[in-house]
Amino acid sequence: PITPVILCGGSGTRLWPLSRKSYPKQFVSMIGEGSLFQQSAIRCSGQMFAAPVVVTNSDFRFIVTQQLADVGIDPGKVLIEPEARNTAPALLAAALVVAGDDPDALILAAPSDHYIEEVDTFRATVTRGIEAAEAGRIVTFGIRPDRAETGYGYLELDAASGSAETIPLRRFVEKPELKHAREMLATGSFMWNSGIFLYSAAVLIAAFETHAPEILAQVRTAVSGATPDLGFLRLAPEPWSGCADISIDYAIMEKSDRLSVAVHEGDWSDLGGWESVRQHSDADSQGLVITGPVTAVDCVNTLLRAEAGGQHLVGLGLRDIVAIAMPDAVLVADRNRVHDVGTLVRTLRNEG
Ligand code: GDD
Ligand code: MG
Repeated sequence: PITPVILCGGSGTRLWPLSRKSYPKQFVSMIGEGSLFQQSAIRCSGQMFAAPVVVTNSDFRFIVTQQLADVGIDPGKVLIEPEARNTAPALLAAALVVAGDDPDALILAAPSDHYIEEVDTFRATVTRGIEAAEAGRIVTFGIRPDRAETGYGYLELDAASGSAETIPLRRFVEKPELKHAREMLATGSFMWNSGIFLYSAAVLIAAFETHAPEILAQVRTAVSGATPDLGFLRLAPEPWSGCADISIDYAIMEKSDRLSVAVHEGDWSDLGGWESVRQHSDADSQGLVITGPVTAVDCVNTLLRAEAGGQHLVGLGLRDIVAIAMPDAVLVADRNRVHDVGTLVRTLRNEG
């Protein structure tokens, strides 16, 4: 079986004020049943999968175990990061822990900020990557792009070769400039990186050995010095804080020549901001999405959200507005400006 490694240590500032530092978006119910973290754990459960390894930070550890218990999933291991060091150290730590039991174990790196409705299609896509991963490839899952999004990684396919299951990757470009994203989109030979990866523990470790040996040295020490703590595994703070803060995309994926792509034909969305939440929610014919105690009259292409049991939010004649009412903060924004919410929140925090 495949061991899912579920990452849920991000702080999700772009979905403020619903997503908070203390309770980020992946633990909040947003679309569909349960939180995105619970949906991710459920997606990666069943026959194909072993118990998940969850990598998170200290503040979220009890949210993690509670939310897993609520959906009846046994949390294999929960690794605690002394501080957030981004996805490269987090995924490497998990690979080292998994390799301790079986170096050839296959790992599915699963972010917890995605919305995927068709679980069976997702599992079928993962299955198509197994053969390549067993043969020592790092398999990424490609999504057909529909716009020049700059928040994603781009995968250039080597369409001339490959099996029915996977296609070798020519190049991986993480978060390009808009101009570059447009150029890549226009060629028709690029896909988006879903941020989900399948590889054997030993192959990921070997990739760090080649492309990021300093990170490997630090993380190895942090894992071997880890202390069990009430069922959690707490990574050693000293070597961990000496780790570079870098994502797996920059540290490994842009550099490796062992990448293959399995094209995902089902639905997938990174709920990165309020506009994508609006687009993926059930809207009325006017593009209006409402959640909670909300009344909307003549509102078009608008998202209104209030907390159950909280204040009544009323919208009248709104166009292109996002309004999120929480007990202690209310966001009212132009729909076309919500990509700036993350930056805004970081500024507020620094002032606050
Ligand atoms: N445990 C842990 N620790 N988890 C983390 C950390 C960390 O320090 N940082 C981020 N994560 C988690 C987030 O909670 C999220 O579930 C996942 O790792 C991905 O991190 P993001 O920060 O959301 O990455 P991104 O969306 O900017 O970019 C990635 O995903 C895109 C698709 O959604 C990249 O892989 C892109 O190439 C890709 O297109
Ligand atoms: Mg993301």
